[in-house]
Amino acid sequence: MNKQPIGIFDSGVGGTSIWRAIHALMPKENTVYLADSANAPYGPKGKEAILALSIKNTEYLLNHNCKLIVVACNTATTNAIDYLRQHYDVPIIGIEPAIKPAALKTQTKVIGVLATRGTLSSELFCNATQLYSNGIKIIEQEGEGIVQLIESGRINSTKMTAVLRGYLEPMLEANIDYLVLGCTHYPYLMTQLKKILPKHVKIIDSGEAVAKQTKAVLEKHALLNTAEANPILQFYSNSNPLVMSSLLEDKFKVDYLKF
Ligand code: DGL
Repeated sequence: MNKQPIGIFDSGVGGTSIWRAIHALMPKENTVYLADSANAPYGPKGKEAILALSIKNTEYLLNHNCKLIVVACNTATTNAIDYLRQHYDVPIIGIEPAIKPAALKTQTKVIGVLATRGTLSSELFCNATQLYSNGIKIIEQEGEGIVQLIESGRINSTKMTAVLRGYLEPMLEANIDYLVLGCTHYPYLMTQLKKILPKHVKIIDSGEAVAKQTKAVLEKHALLNTAEANPILQFYSNSNPLVMSSLLEDKFKVDYLKF
């Protein structure tokens, strides 16, 4: 049982930021990563469409015999995790924007959240902001267009810099000291973000927390892989596999998959 892979899916290549954290923490675990890039972005789609795609991705991974599923997508988590947990027997780990640590640490009492429309409009996100917004101003900004630029391999383009400036400058004017990255694609923008944001603005993402949670759940269910063999790491994309392989510094083979 414990040699079965961990299944990870995202609307596209961004969830590899979560895969990295999981692989760094549990290097012996076998993994199957699924990028539904042909259907990206999920953010502008409605809840029903996001749920249907999340079910399709989950079932694909379960057919690959995965012992646990990581929904490495804030948009899919905030719209579909309750359904997935109710309908499938394996443990399911999700990811949400890390509002709590930012709200607890902010000095200026103003934090920024950059996420997709699907995440910002979800009930789960609204509940979280209500819980932590006491005395704190939370500036929500939809990252419209960012996922498409990353999916088309234009991370370091002038267009990306212009889009990011447009979203971040109003947050800076409002005096944020924390920026929460509410989309698993966004950690790949760290270099550009650091160029735009002054040093005192801290950037928070949820990758490490998700990896720790995944490990804790595997331990709890006695599902950790204790074998010493090198792990089998599989990557699948239903769009151009070269975008993902370049994000992974061409260290891993990415297979095209029609699904
Ligand atoms: N990586 C996804 C997330 O974390 C991007 C969603 C999208 O495709 O718009 O929300």
